[in-house]
Parts: sequence; structure tokens; C-alpha cells
Amino acid sequence: MTTYIGTDTSRVDGRPKVTGAAKYAAEFNTAGLAHASVVTSTIAKGRIALIDASEALSVAGVIDVLTHQNRPSMAAADSAYKDDLAPDGAPFRPLYDDRIWFSDQPIAVVVAEESEIARFAASLVRVQYDKEAHITDLHRQRNAAFALKSPANPVENPFAPPKPRGTAEPALAAAEVRHSAEYFVPIEHHNPMELYASTVIFEGDGKLTVYDKTQGVQNVQRYLCGVLEMEPDDVRVISPFVGGAFGSGLRPQYNVVLAALAARALKRSVRLVLTRQQMYGLGYRPAMIQQIELGANAGGTLDAITHDAVTVTSQYEDFYRQETGWSGLLYKSAHAKYAHKLARLDLATSCDMRCPSAATAVYALECAMDELAVALKLDPLELRLRCYSDRDQHGDRPYSSKSLRDCYRRGAEAFGWARRNPEPRSMRDGADLVGWGMATGVWEALQVPIAVRIVLTANGHAEVSCATSDIGTGTYTIMAQVAAEMLGLPLDNVTIKLGDSTLPQSPVEGGSWIAASVSNGIVTTAGAVREELLRLSKQMPNSPLADATPDEVGLADGKLVSERDASRSVSIADAMRHGAVDRIEQEKLTTFADDGSHAHNTHSAVFAEVKVDEQLGVIRVTRIVSAVAAGRILNTKTARSQIIGGVVWGIGMALHEETVVDHKFGRIMNANIAEYHVPVNADVHDIQVIFVDEPDDIVNPLGIKGLGEIGIVGVAAAIANAIYHATGKRVRDLPITLDKLVRD
Ligand code: MOS
Repeated sequence: MTTYIGTDTSRVDGRPKVTGAAKYAAEFNTAGLAHASVVTSTIAKGRIALIDASEALSVAGVIDVLTHQNRPSMAAADSAYKDDLAPDGAPFRPLYDDRIWFSDQPIAVVVAEESEIARFAASLVRVQYDKEAHITDLHRQRNAAFALKSPANPVENPFAPPKPRGTAEPALAAAEVRHSAEYFVPIEHHNPMELYASTVIFEGDGKLTVYDKTQGVQNVQRYLCGVLEMEPDDVRVISPFVGGAFGSGLRPQYNVVLAALAARALKRSVRLVLTRQQMYGLGYRPAMIQQIELGANAGGTLDAITHDAVTVTSQYEDFYRQETGWSGLLYKSAHAKYAHKLARLDLATSCDMRCPSAATAVYALECAMDELAVALKLDPLELRLRCYSDRDQHGDRPYSSKSLRDCYRRGAEAFGWARRNPEPRSMRDGADLVGWGMATGVWEALQVPIAVRIVLTANGHAEVSCATSDIGTGTYTIMAQVAAEMLGLPLDNVTIKLGDSTLPQSPVEGGSWIAASVSNGIVTTAGAVREELLRLSKQMPNSPLADATPDEVGLADGKLVSERDASRSVSIADAMRHGAVDRIEQEKLTTFADDGSHAHNTHSAVFAEVKVDEQLGVIRVTRIVSAVAAGRILNTKTARSQIIGGVVWGIGMALHEETVVDHKFGRIMNANIAEYHVPVNADVHDIQVIFVDEPDDIVNPLGIKGLGEIGIVGVAAAIANAIYHATGKRVRDLPITLDKLVRD
């Protein structure tokens, strides 16, 4: 039997992607397609006093201009606008009324025969506003932020700060060594390569087929039905390929509403593609101020941790994730206390962005741990080992698996950490100061209920379908690998269908939970297929499997084989022929019961080398070693790519990424990827990824933990710590740009 799980299988969709055969939301065509362009607000808060579309309408080729005044009807209740990931509050309603909640909010849609015409005409729509005073500066709004309550039972609200343990204040006061500091992470935007786009096909009977860029087709389908008050059968959402999303596509975006409204108004198919600038009017990683205090004894173990965060949300929804709890989880400490406040700003609602909460909280924690190590005169890795926790500190329970010690050991070896001179500014390479820093990463190993359908045909071909997405992570590929292995078929005989709301149910692809969920889902459904084949085999005269039970047969090389006696087998073709069927179809829902007795997390150890030009402060990240413990690795090639991608994100977070808001106007100043800096090839040097063994037979039958997000966690801290080691200067507000380094 061929093994596919755990191999470095190339992407099954690689060829269509590089040849352009893979179609994205804005690439689906139909006869008579109209093109829409969005007009956005230039003020951050107030009301629309007047929209004059006459000039736009006079342009040849313009079909219509939709505003809140002439759009088709939309649902009245907030509940209709709540998608699967909507936080508390009243969701934004695109084109609903005259209220302006944030700058670059959509306020009109121009529809034309050509996209260029629509875009030009959009520039001619004149708008007058009744402005109101706005606030977009977190530092100014900090004192007006309101506190989130810790629920008595974390199941009620996993995103609220956890309950404290012990008595942190007296423990801090009594600690022999203390470190306290404030860390800042700015607003960041996801900037996926593919722009948000929707192509809405207006079917003859008024039904809509919607090609949309999203991380969850069924989430968008339900949302559209709610907003447009349509029946489930009348809206189908399809998204076979996604050109990156990183959390920005978890919630439906306004483009899909506007395109659907335009299609219904015109009774015509409509495509709407956002501009790069308009992408900055969507969600973002919330800016946050984090205050961390650590108390340790001179021996290098922690007594107390406090972690306070202030994060950004909009005026209309309360988006937050559990920022603060990571600190109390990761290291052994008898006392821990958390506080989280939300600051309302006149911006769109913040949202999930790759490893939401951990990427930012662990940045602050791991810089603080580095600073504590300096205060203790202890090697930073040694401090982590002394504070190592084998148990989940929140629930005082074991992990289903935790190979973080191996990550530290193997990462340090590969990096050469033992050769580090602890003294800042002590290592040099010509004109450059050299710095070595490290940090820990942690994320959750989540899994979600998911349904998978398998259709196996007598010719030994399987079609495996599920409504999940492949946001570029490699879902098509790992699904094909697991199905091929479970069904005993060559990889090429497996076809994967996903990204279609009519397929078996799946939640959004996010939280690194789909790989574990869908692969175990395939195991469940493949088991049902095998049972059906066995039932048919037993009906054959003199069946070699007459007395076999379902758990002692497996599928290999197109045959159902007894695992007790490999000479007893029945080919798939024979079983189906005798049973007079030409296909077996099974669909099963897989759920992941969790009795709460174990914690499930992924971990990493990140080691970074930077070289800093002493005169100019220019920073290069010359080496990163990331050692990851994430259960059994499904595909070593795509997994490695995920971690490399995460590391590159970490470099951007440390050195480049920052959405700059002009607070006077409440507008984003760098709403483009020329001035919003991300790492480019010249910024990315040597990245080594190590997967440590982490067998786990508790988390799920295959022992899979997701790893789409763990790659970013800890990277920014490792780099910040390396910069301190190189220069002796501690910069606590990201990104660490050269001006902050050379400033006294
Ligand atoms: Mo991820 S931020 O859950 O797409």
C-alpha cells in the first residue's frame, strides 16, 4: 500500500495554479456581465447629506449608480447581518443608510458595461457630508477603553481574559527580580495578493450564483440569505481558489453584498473588484498596547505574571480575542492575573489576522521574558527551560502532547545557540553588529465539526467533497493524500471538490483547524465506504472475506484486504460488480468530542540572527531557525511552506508592517503596498524549518494538529530580542524601524 500521509507530496493544484487554469472570484465570466466600482467615504464619522450621481450617470456605458437611497431592499434586523464570526454588536450594513462609521466606508456603487468606465464614473460621484468629530488614535482613547469581564466559566466566552490564579500583586511585590514594560503593536492589514472580489451570476429565475473570495462559502451563503432575505436554495456561493486571506476572509466582506445588490437591482450579472486602497477599508489586526509584569526569584523561576492589554475595535462591534491568557499558559507561575480593555475608534471593526492574539501577545510576553533574562543575568533559553510547564497552567491538566523541549533543543543545535556571547554589542561582522535572539511560540490545536462525502466508483476513482476552503494552505493536497491512503488508491485517482456552499458542511477555514478536521473527517467517511464494500464482498459466493469484521479489513491497491491474512482480498471492481452497483457514496459528519481532560496546543522555538549597520541602523534578518511541534505532519512540503510563510510574516511584523492613520482626518495614509511595507525577497534570507516528532493519539485519530498559524508566533519577539542583543537598545513598539534604533 502506498503511503501518502507524512510525505512531501507536491500540491495537486500546483499545475492549474501556475498555468492560470485555476480561476479566482473575479475570473468567472458570463454573457452580459456588468462591472461595478465602489465609491467610499472621505470622512471618518458623520452622515451623508447629499449624493449627486448625475455626472457619473452621464458617462457613456454607465448603467446605474446605487446608493442607500435607491438600493434594493435589505433586512432590517441586526441578526440578519450576523455571520458565523460576528462579534457582539450591530454588524456594519453596507449601503444601508446615511451613517458614516469609518473612512473609506462604501457609500455608492457605480455599475457600467466596462470596469474602467465604472471606475472612472465612480470618481465623478459628488458627496456632501455632515461631519462629526472622530477619534482614531488608540493612545488618545486608551483611558476611555472599557474592561472585558472574565466569565465564571471560560466555555461561555473563550476570548475573555481567563480567571486569575493566586495573588499576583503581593507575589510581584515579594519577587526578587521584576520586569515591567509596555509593548505596542500597530494596526496591520492582511494584504492578500488577490483583491476582494465577487462575481454574481444573476440566474434566469432570480437565483444567485456567487463567486466570492472567502474563507467560508457557507458562511457567506447564510449571510447573503440573511441580508437579502433570500431562501437558502436561491443563493449558491463558490470559491474554488483563494489568493491569500489570512483571516480577512473569515467574515463576509462588503463587496459581496454590493455585487449582489447590484445584480438584483439590474437583474443582470455583476462583478465587483475592490481596489488595493479599498482593501484597507476592511478589517485589520487591532492595534494594541500591552503591559506585562514578571516577577521571578533569583534562581530564574517565575512567581507572578500580569498581562494587561488594550485593543482596538469599532464603534459598532466588539471584536477581541484572548490576548492576555497566553502569558499565564506558557510558563509555570503560581500567580497570574489578566486584564483586557477595548477601545472604540471610528474605524471598521478589527478582525482576525494570522494567529490572532498569539502573534501579538506572545510577542510582548517573549520580549518581556528576554528582558527578565537580562535582569537575571541568565541565558534566555535557560530561563525558558527553568520556567517550562508540562501542564496547561489555566486548567492544571496535561497536554495531549507537548514536544516544546525538543523544539528548544533541536532549534538551538541547528542555530548554534551555545556559541552566543551573552553581552550585547559583543558580536560583529565587519561594520555590522550581530545579534542572536530567541522566543517561544504557542498556538491552539483546534478542530471543528465537518462533513465529508466520498463517491467511489467501480473503476477505482474517488471523488471527495467538502464545503471547506483552500486559502492557499494546501487543503486540496492533504485531502487527496489522506483519501488516497485511506481508500488505497493512487493519488491521481482522487478528485477533491471544495469551496462550494452546496457541498457537505464545513465551518470557515481558519484557526489552523481545517487540516486536522477534514483529514479525520475523510478517515470517518472512508471507514463507511470500506464497510459498504465489505458488505458487498460478503455477498459474493465463497467470499474470501466472509468472516471478516470491518476493523480487520483495509483498502490497498484497489482491493479490500484482510489485515489478518493478506491473501484474502476482494477487488473494489469485483465487489461492486457482484453487488450490481457502479458507485458507493457515503457522507458522514465528524465531530471531535473533547472531555476537557487534556490541553491541545502547538509549539515552536524560534532563533533569529540579525545584522545591524552600526551607523545607519539598517537591520537585516540573516538567519531564522524555527523548530515546530505540531503533531503528526501530513505533508512535509506544504507544512514547511506554511512555516516559512509564517516566518516571513514575523519578519514583516518585527520590521515593516504598520498601517499609519492620519488622526486629523481619520484616514489611512499608506493604503497601498508601496507605502505599507512588507518583506520582499531582499528582506528574507536563510530560513530553516525543523519539525520535531510529536506523536499524539489523544488529540484525534490521525494525531494531526494544524500549523497554518504557529509559524508566525514568536518570530517578531526573537528578532526584537536579537536586535537588543546586537545593539543594546530595546525597542518595544513595532515595527522596529531604523529611526527608532538610531534615536537617543
Ligand atoms: Mo485565520 S486569522 O483564523 O484565517
